[in-house]
Amino acid sequence: MTSERCADAEALLLRPRIFREIELPNRIVVAPMCQYSAENGMPNNWHLVHLGSRAVGGAGLVFTEATAVSPEGRITPGDLGLWSDEHAHAMKPITDFISSHGSVPGIQLAHAGRRGARKKPWDGNLGLPKEEAWSLAAPTAIAFDEGWSTPEELSSDGLERIIEQFVLATKRAVLAGFKVLELHMAHGYLLHSFLSPLSNHRRDAFGGDVRKRAEFPLRIVAAVRSTWPQDLPLFVRLSAVDWMAGGLTIEDSIEISKIMKSFGVDLVDCSSGFNVPREKMPAGHPFQVPFAARIRREAEIPTGAVGFILDAKEAASILADGHADLVFVARGMLHNPYWARHAAAALGANPRWPTQYARSVRHFHDGAWQPTALGPGQIRTSA
Ligand SMILES: Cc1cc2nc3c(=O)[nH]c(=O)nc-3n(C[C@H](O)[C@H](O)[C@H](O)COP(=O)(O)O)c2cc1C
Repeated sequence: MTSERCADAEALLLRPRIFREIELPNRIVVAPMCQYSAENGMPNNWHLVHLGSRAVGGAGLVFTEATAVSPEGRITPGDLGLWSDEHAHAMKPITDFISSHGSVPGIQLAHAGRRGARKKPWDGNLGLPKEEAWSLAAPTAIAFDEGWSTPEELSSDGLERIIEQFVLATKRAVLAGFKVLELHMAHGYLLHSFLSPLSNHRRDAFGGDVRKRAEFPLRIVAAVRSTWPQDLPLFVRLSAVDWMAGGLTIEDSIEISKIMKSFGVDLVDCSSGFNVPREKMPAGHPFQVPFAARIRREAEIPTGAVGFILDAKEAASILADGHADLVFVARGMLHNPYWARHAAAALGANPRWPTQYARSVRHFHDGAWQPTALGPGQIRTSA
């Protein structure tokens, strides 16, 4: 990398990016991450502090975890939900706090489908006992794995009901003050299970070739897009491939992304896998970036890159190389809520810190953190 291109790369990650009428102050996104800490879908102080800290930490866009459109759409009883106005009112202080720190609040709406009714991961991630479980919905009555509950094949009434649940949740997301909405179509949950030939064996209008498998997810996109304000961006998270022979391919995902674009989707967030057990997923490096790059190039739609992006310079070069438009960081953000500010410092910028934290600021020099040489008056703060 030449030093000139390096400077460009760094600037791009930290530069604002506009989607419709929403300006993200930088291109660093807190990826959606389940916290399993809600009761009856209601957010509490954990969600305020968790999401709020990442806004204080300087991320341009802070997503909630997968937020269920109905109680039966939850993965676990600890998931966030948005199936009543009460949920929306409880989320408003969180979006207000995120916005007041210069970040943009985003929500990921989801339905868990055949992967629902599980215990929390720290309780073993097993199926819930019968008296606590709910019936699972899917395109086809195929259990996720041995020992998992078999879902019910959705009837046309069932499909209509779920579209309506997404529409109502979208209205409530507006009420709650969110500015970006992402539909979760990845990781084996309901909408991914429609897209994948491994989990969708239907012979009606909602199964068959890739266009037919995409029909139900697209009906949701159309209904949500016409409900979500036109000046606010709509993202979709895809599992770009299933990592399994006979499963969803990158070519399918490119085709789906082209149609999504024509339906008014503004960005495809490119994850992968988790629709079938025993998939052959690699790990340990940003292996999903090539999916973001191909979808961006071949479907001509903005993309988000996610997965094993830990290093600021790597994040910067993903954007500079034209592989994606935004970088989503998950575990890095759990480890360090100030990931974005530290990334900016590591790239040689002088990030704004909240006034209250200004005296903590150290600077990155010669590959190592140094105690700050700056006095309080010289450190940039948001005041
Ligand atoms: C604790 C945790 C919870 C997650 N929950 C969600 C979720 O609610 N929705 C989603 O799309 N992905 C979820 N993911 C996946 C992340 O968004 C991300 O795609 C994945 O962790 C890879 O990025 P990373 O290497 O930066 O962690 C979760 C990941 C973690 C670690």
